[in-house]
Amino acid sequence: PLPERFRTPLPIPPVARPVKVTADTDHYLITQRVARAELIPGTKTEIWGYDGLFPGPTLRGRKGRRMVVTVRNELPVPTSTHLHGGVTPAESDGFPTDLILPAGYSPAPPGHHSAAGRRHDTSRDYTYPMTQRAATLWYHDHRMDFTGPQVWRGLAGLFLVTDEVEDALPLPRDDRDLPLMICDRSFAADGSLKYPRRDTTHPGAGGIFHAGIFGDVILVNGAPWPRAEVPAVRHRLRLVNASNARRYRLSLSAGTITQIGSDAGLLAAPLPREDVLLAPGERVDVIADFTGLPAGTEVTMANTLGDGPAGDVMRFVITGPAADDSGVPARLSAVAALERTRAVTERRFDFRFGGGLWTINNQPYDPAGTMFSAGLGTVELWRFTSDFHHPVHVHLAHFQVLSRGANGPEPGDAGWKDTVDVRPYETVQVLVDLSGHRGRYLLHCHNLEHEDMAMMANFDIV
Ligand code: C2O
Ligand code: CU
Repeated sequence: PLPERFRTPLPIPPVARPVKVTADTDHYLITQRVARAELIPGTKTEIWGYDGLFPGPTLRGRKGRRMVVTVRNELPVPTSTHLHGGVTPAESDGFPTDLILPAGYSPAPPGHHSAAGRRHDTSRDYTYPMTQRAATLWYHDHRMDFTGPQVWRGLAGLFLVTDEVEDALPLPRDDRDLPLMICDRSFAADGSLKYPRRDTTHPGAGGIFHAGIFGDVILVNGAPWPRAEVPAVRHRLRLVNASNARRYRLSLSAGTITQIGSDAGLLAAPLPREDVLLAPGERVDVIADFTGLPAGTEVTMANTLGDGPAGDVMRFVITGPAADDSGVPARLSAVAALERTRAVTERRFDFRFGGGLWTINNQPYDPAGTMFSAGLGTVELWRFTSDFHHPVHVHLAHFQVLSRGANGPEPGDAGWKDTVDVRPYETVQVLVDLSGHRGRYLLHCHNLEHEDMAMMANFDIV
């Protein structure tokens, strides 16, 4: 039977503490290990977790302060850690073949491709310069061909960047600023996580799983359909879709929601929303305003794209009125619109099933190859087309949505993005700001089973 809904208290993942602080850098150490966690009350589930936790510890970055995160691998499988949304030098970006090997691992497992010159160690230092603006990011595993099963087992955590611009705003903070990492999972009768593809040596999940792998239990911060008791005030909800393949359309049964941020930080101005759509990999920051709701009110966060239990996400229970000095200013941050005329090149990327694989421009992923090169500091227009739902994610470079279908962008496309939901037979055009670092980066579908089935491409920033 499925766990009971709205019973488990909402957990908030612990914030990681630096192991060393120098004049300009904060150092962290995270160990990936097998652990037994109580995700479903009364049941133990074996997970693969950063520090043995699911979600992993929350990393807090500060614009202007460099971070070095040492990730140690004590799991039985190779891993690679990617900071999703990070403006990260290529050698720290968690390239799919930049593996952290388990101690004693034989170097060439079947189905594994190794790009020349990449280091393979049992731990790795990831350097995050933190030159980027405040945003809700997340980190997760990115091992080539096995991202789906490895994230499913628990390799994902939150990474929150703050800056002075955001600090100066009267947005809800502390325990009224709730990160909500949403993902679906299935559990076997013994409490173990059930990924339909049991075989851990062959990539991807083909056949009947071509749409990706879905779970029948909705977890928020690792707890099934949790409940949170909150005062009748404004709360900031940082919604993160960490699901392998599930899309959500989230709404509240009472109160209002106003979007204030998207993938790569604050919007220019707040945007009242009825509901928000969240494809895998995407983030939306909203203010949920519970002001005036009587004590005892149950506010359910629903997923109107889900059937049955998957149509519910979590519940807030209003405790009563409280003082609230927060506000949502009419101007949140400076987001200069990229002009189409700045695009120096136009490119087309077709996301499609072909030859038993998911491909981009009919090419399955080649870790050693590159699809194109682009100039550092330029802006390009990229046109995404698809045969299915494909949440398209670009590493390093953030973008703005120029058009969706025949019309302009939709409300949910606002602001700086790193992932965009491309719907079946739809064309989405984005203007990509290729600034940050030189090196080899990825463009891929963030449906993790599609990613594992080759829907990924390298590009070089030169
Ligand atoms: Cu969140 Cu390349 O991934
Ligand atoms: Cu896809």
